[in-house]
Amino acid sequence: MSGNEIREKYLKFMEKNGHAVIPSSALVPENDPTTLFTGSGMQPLIPYLMGEKHPKGVRLADSQKCFRANDIEEVGDNRHTTFFEMLGNWSLGDYFKKEQLRWIFTYLIDEVGLDPARIYVSVFAGDESLGIPKDEEAVAMWKELFLERGFEAKDVFIGSEENGYKVGMQGGRIFYYDAAKNWWSRSGKPENMPAGEIGGPDSEIFYDFGPEHATHPIFGKQEAHPNSDSGQFLEIGNSVFIEYIKQADGSFTKLPQRNVDFGGGLERIAAAKVGSPDVFKVDLLLNVVTHIEKLSGKKYEDDLIAFRIITDHIRGAVFLIADGVLPGNTDQDYFVRRLLRRAVRFADRLSVPAGRFAELAEAVITTYSAHYPTLEDKRAIITEAIAREEEQFRKTLESGLKQFNKISLQIHVESKEVDGKRVINKEIAPVTKKAISAQNAFDLYTTYGFPIELTEEIATEKGLIVERAGFDKLMEEHKATSRAGAEQKFKGGLADSSEKVIELHTATHLMLAGLQKELGGHIHQAGSNITAERLRYDFTHGEKVERDILDRVETYVNSAIKLGGPITIEMMSKDSAQADSTIEASFWDRYPDEVKVYTMTGTDGKVYSRELCGGPHTSDMGDIKGTFKIIKEESSSAGVRRIKAILE
Ligand code: SER
Repeated sequence: MSGNEIREKYLKFMEKNGHAVIPSSALVPENDPTTLFTGSGMQPLIPYLMGEKHPKGVRLADSQKCFRANDIEEVGDNRHTTFFEMLGNWSLGDYFKKEQLRWIFTYLIDEVGLDPARIYVSVFAGDESLGIPKDEEAVAMWKELFLERGFEAKDVFIGSEENGYKVGMQGGRIFYYDAAKNWWSRSGKPENMPAGEIGGPDSEIFYDFGPEHATHPIFGKQEAHPNSDSGQFLEIGNSVFIEYIKQADGSFTKLPQRNVDFGGGLERIAAAKVGSPDVFKVDLLLNVVTHIEKLSGKKYEDDLIAFRIITDHIRGAVFLIADGVLPGNTDQDYFVRRLLRRAVRFADRLSVPAGRFAELAEAVITTYSAHYPTLEDKRAIITEAIAREEEQFRKTLESGLKQFNKISLQIHVESKEVDGKRVINKEIAPVTKKAISAQNAFDLYTTYGFPIELTEEIATEKGLIVERAGFDKLMEEHKATSRAGAEQKFKGGLADSSEKVIELHTATHLMLAGLQKELGGHIHQAGSNITAERLRYDFTHGEKVERDILDRVETYVNSAIKLGGPITIEMMSKDSAQADSTIEASFWDRYPDEVKVYTMTGTDGKVYSRELCGGPHTSDMGDIKGTFKIIKEESSSAGVRRIKAILE
């Protein structure tokens, strides 16, 4: 069964059980200031988990593209990847534990065909200090489900991961773990959650690949247990019961609705199906691995790490570029650059001939295009961008490596970094590390295009360290100088998702409509940046906007606020939205195939704004508090004006 089939079966199964299948959001989140990339299936759904009504109803399912930048360094083992797909289903205040656990178990056993004897599960052990009880309801349900398959499932207490290695499996199938393990929120365990963050207990599902796969690097011979890094068990799915929100005083209260957030790694479920804990053996990735074998004349087993890094990094770059991120030096762009440049080095290690990255990208596109037609549409853009980045880096790579060797030979001072400073290492350490100076690392970056992480990686291979703190300082200075010259890069972003920011964001829609009414349809958004204090908005217009016009725009916004009226959301295909001239959108390219249109209708029945957006907004225009005031209008760059406005 291919990865593509497992995905389709899941979506069909959830559809059959009343879920609306929604398209994956982009890897670069719209209007989510908390993160550079979409890293889980629930991230784009936060407003709905918090109570906003989703236009597709209360049961949703999808396969969400995810990118976890933090995992770049982990890639190389048998299960970490930067890009992955997360199969997800959600109850927005509808069904809860019983339905969820039955559905997901049925899917894994009857649809995918996994052996129930190899399935183990975990549940939340409760936390007295938070007043949240242990999850006996989930335990009862799991017992029932296993019994139906002929297993008496015993529940045992583990608590912490460390304790698990001491007490072992105890013949159990259902395991109680503490909040560090069985509680999910975007920021992890309860004490790490900021006020206003949502989360809850979860129940994870593990697949047992057999004790022959167990490795216990830290705990010696002690017994493996499911929710640990044992290597024997792989987490293949997680049902989170999101029903809590953290308060400013640190306590937890219940959300107005009880939600389910299920996420399951597609590649991991497929690995369980293949019976190998190595996700790179799943066809979705194996197609690329095989292609690298052909190009290099080497076997996957000859150099697992290099094969995995190239495969993962090319796939990640393909999906990021498809979502509009091109290799570059800042923000998301930098990650695409890092992925591709690191992949070049490992391709050299395997003797993959130069200039073949585009082919590897083709292999990814072909594997995925049935489910992600955008990849096919953008085939040329993707392969060209990847080929260009490979070529560009290859121009400086060889001389950069020579320079690197020269630097390494010159290093003679035994040193180490302490609190950001380079000091002579006087300790008797088993390995004496030597440091590459900040200036050298900076030159490798500016002259030879070596991302700092790559320099650090090569340094480690040579037993050296890099003066990172000093490098970061040089980079800061460098950025400050180049900012002064160049036009400031601008991403439509909100500083956070506080109430004031949401109100200002909603007012921004009205302001754009007002500007278009006064100045004409050529006005579009060129950038937006909103904090709790003010909005800052760039728009396409060639000349100064006079104060009397700004006054009229203010009046337009304020009368809409005063009048009030509902803000409704429609989902529609991008094509039909583009064909509808009443809908405003500034960056068609950046939107997925299915888009959300926000319409603000006054109580007088008139439409005050109709615009494509990703949210979040107030639910009524009247919820915007204060008087809208434009405090500044100025030039931003050629053909672009900038407004600063507040709610007073
Ligand atoms: N949000 C949970 C996770 O990322 C389940 O979707 O694991």
